[in-house]
Amino acid sequence: MSTVIKFGLNALPPFLKSRKYSTLFVLVDENSKKHCLPLLKALLPAHQVVTIKSGERNKTLKTCEFIWEVLLKKNADRNSLILNLGGGVITDMGAFCAATFMRGIDFVNIPTSMLAMTDAAIGGKTAIDFLNYKNMIGSFTTPQLVCIDTQFLKTLPTKHLVASSSEIFKHALLQNKNETNTLLKKPFLLFSESEKLAIIKKSIRFKMSVVTLDSLDKNLRKQLNLGHTLAHALESYFMLYKKTLFHGEAVALGLIGEAYIAHRFYSLPYDLFLSIVFWYDLNFLKPNIKEINFNTMLKLMHKDKKNDPLAIKMVLLESEGHFAIDTRVTHSQIKEALKFMSDF
Ligand code: GLY
Repeated sequence: MSTVIKFGLNALPPFLKSRKYSTLFVLVDENSKKHCLPLLKALLPAHQVVTIKSGERNKTLKTCEFIWEVLLKKNADRNSLILNLGGGVITDMGAFCAATFMRGIDFVNIPTSMLAMTDAAIGGKTAIDFLNYKNMIGSFTTPQLVCIDTQFLKTLPTKHLVASSSEIFKHALLQNKNETNTLLKKPFLLFSESEKLAIIKKSIRFKMSVVTLDSLDKNLRKQLNLGHTLAHALESYFMLYKKTLFHGEAVALGLIGEAYIAHRFYSLPYDLFLSIVFWYDLNFLKPNIKEINFNTMLKLMHKDKKNDPLAIKMVLLESEGHFAIDTRVTHSQIKEALKFMSDF
């Protein structure tokens, strides 16, 4: 089933009217409860709010148990609907809880971060982290609706917005030179609201075009893992040491490291490699990753579900719109890339 995406919260009332759900639950964290729920409430019939703690470190089985317990206590049944209102953690985990509760109930994603709008909330992946491994437990389950309203972006701290732009840049690199060059013109924050909306819409369209061709991630969809082999290991590493690194920040660094390997050992041209580094500098301040332990990073990469105990694989860019999926990379190539990522 392909995802139905609608722009604007006004799409919700007609959807709800047409479905006649028995009960509505809105899953929020403390941030989306404070800043986003007030914008949604007026559009909803009677509903119950389920609040969890924000942050990737809470995307766990324990939080799912809490959500399932609340659903049970509040008499959710197979005809209930969950509205996931928040960023990628809420949409990933709310979708997972819905996909598994009573063998699956309907859910709607209402992403409030740019990252969730352009990536996490669309495409039918649901997930939680397990034993500090990112997105280790999950399913492919399509939401009944994804409702995107960019007014939520105004509620976000600047750092979040900038971090989220890395998935958009990743989509641009995978698309073509035009999209890539647009994002190299200026820091993401300096685009006007209408420019941002146009960029977001194109990014969503691109992701959906890929997902439509390979919804179960067997082949073409794997391109969306560009930058993510290193990014997921970095995120897991930070989780392990109870430090914070936004997913978007990890992806930005992952794009740099994987571009380094693609340029140094494969065919990515120097000018595009430099452009990727330029884009990073335009938008990000580098976290200190000098002390990062190489062997721990390797262990985390081998456990990543994209890889196996014998091979670490990456999507390596060849030029804008061209890439090689499932490229096996060596430990020494990764070591060099990590060194570059901490020194550039
Ligand atoms: N975030 C990558 C994917 O949806 O496949």
